[in-house]
Amino acid sequence: MTRIAILSALAEEQHGLLALLRQPQKIHRAGRDFWLGELHGQHVVLALSRIGKVAAATTATALIERFHVARIVFTGVAGGLAPGVNVGDVVVASGFVQHDMAASPIFPRSELPLYGRSLIACDEALSALLFEATCNHVAKAQAGFDAQERVMAHRVHRGLIASGDRFVSAATESTALCHALQAAGHEALAVEMEGAAVAQVCLDYGVPFGAVRTISDRADDQAHGDWSNFVREVASRYACAIMERVLRLLPKK
Ligand code: ADE
Repeated sequence: MTRIAILSALAEEQHGLLALLRQPQKIHRAGRDFWLGELHGQHVVLALSRIGKVAAATTATALIERFHVARIVFTGVAGGLAPGVNVGDVVVASGFVQHDMAASPIFPRSELPLYGRSLIACDEALSALLFEATCNHVAKAQAGFDAQERVMAHRVHRGLIASGDRFVSAATESTALCHALQAAGHEALAVEMEGAAVAQVCLDYGVPFGAVRTISDRADDQAHGDWSNFVREVASRYACAIMERVLRLLPKK
């Protein structure tokens, strides 16, 4: 049996997916709840990464070692970093970097020690599928908007996401982060706190990984206020709609 893992950082983001899960079975492992069941005709396991890279790596490792998942998809929220990546937009990851990895002068700045690289690419096919599903969902949602709402239409982006153990909540901080990443040759669209860790675990085990993050804030001085509202009101619905399309598009095994 092929099982797909769907990871969320927080219970609020997972809430809608859990409500739709058929024949749910809860298994407690490594201090976490893993929910096995069926969603839109696929065998899935829903799990919370929790927050930060180490917590996310623990969850990803358990998903692979204990539940033998065939692929992992992360759905959640992120702060917009690049110009034009605005609240309500969606970023489908092409790859991840850790913006707080700094083992220089032993290794080049931002390089993952002993990996010989700083960027970990997502699985190409899974990322393409997530992009297609997200574009479809956003286009359908916008068809229902009136003319004024359409002016603020949400965009779907595909590109690099930066992860680090820091909630970026000041414009000065996000500008400095962009400049540091650009100096290392990376144009990151968004910032969050888990994806690069899951990508690294998946690389180690050879498990395909993809991620889709809805932009909840601009990683600036308003980030905290925007973020908590957005996670409560919007993130869970986006995750449900996008994952429904992805699960229906994936071959049934
Ligand atoms: N996730 C959502 N917004 C974020 C931010 N501003 N910094 C880090 N992670 C985030």
